[in-house]
Amino acid sequence: MKFKHIPAMVKESIEFLAVKPDGIYVDATLGGGGHAATVLRKSKIQNPKSKIKIVGIDQDIEAINFAKKRLKKFGDRVIFVHNNFRDLDSILNQLKIKKVDGILLDLGVSSYQLDDPSRGFSFKTDKDIKLDMRMDRRQKLSAQDVVNDYSEEKLKRIFFELGEEPYARQIARAVVNRRQEKPIKTTNNLLDIIRGATPPKYRFSRHGHYASKIFRAIRMEVNQELKSLQEVLPQAVDRLKAGGRLVIISFHSLEDRIVKHFFRQIKNEDKVEILFKKPLQPSQGEIRLNPRSESAKMRVVEKIC
Ligand SMILES: C[S@@+](CC[C@H](N)C(=O)[O-])C[C@H]1O[C@@H](n2cnc3c(N)ncnc32)[C@H](O)[C@@H]1O
Repeated sequence: MKFKHIPAMVKESIEFLAVKPDGIYVDATLGGGGHAATVLRKSKIQNPKSKIKIVGIDQDIEAINFAKKRLKKFGDRVIFVHNNFRDLDSILNQLKIKKVDGILLDLGVSSYQLDDPSRGFSFKTDKDIKLDMRMDRRQKLSAQDVVNDYSEEKLKRIFFELGEEPYARQIARAVVNRRQEKPIKTTNNLLDIIRGATPPKYRFSRHGHYASKIFRAIRMEVNQELKSLQEVLPQAVDRLKAGGRLVIISFHSLEDRIVKHFFRQIKNEDKVEILFKKPLQPSQGEIRLNPRSESAKMRVVEKIC
């Protein structure tokens, strides 16, 4: 399958990273390397002698392998790291890098992960596929474990908090009832359960697919997305040089809330300057070209000392 992903808010990311020709940057969510390629290309155009380096981290080996091919022409300007960004400190220690000039986090999943049926993320395919949703296939917990092993109470909380799903209680109950008959193994099994637990009026009247909130909640749980974000934030700020910038693009209100509160806290500690109070959002033109960018919110801080 071809690696297809249109990166969100590229122009703004590059502008706010304020890339220097000899700087060292971390792209902690390398994905298909779209943002990284633009940073490298732009810095070369601005200064042909640019010695910029990028540490590109991704927990998905398929993303790393694709980015290696795409960024090959930049040679040793890019260091590829197959790891979770929550281990930023140990990643940089291993590379003997103390401080960096900028860090980019473009959170969530890539379109490639969502669209590849073998990854078990999506119901938007005509195939019935095995529920999986692991970004890092070395990890044990998969979507099947979540739906078959978690208690009804825990499922309800995840569906409600991560999915913001109004029918969280009914769907959690239906999951538990169904798995008592037989294990829930595929995306169609789960779709069927969600369909049965929600009224037709709800399913046909919403913006987006009626199952997307539940699928997103399970994905965020499987990949412990909020926990990783909470763990990386203090490490990222610590690793910035004075004047270095941390640029974060989030796609979920809870992620944005975590980033907002963390930025406020470190501003009160006089560690950073917040570049703009309200998050930036993609232009209407970008949303038209890339509807998946619609929920993107960008926040940026600059390290003071
Ligand atoms: C929205 S995509 C990034 C796309 C990328 N900026 C580009 O231009 O192609 C998010 C990527 O981050 C990776 N990712 C998400 N959470 C991660 C984590 N905790 N550690 C490392 N990589 C992560 C995903 O595997 C995915 O490839």
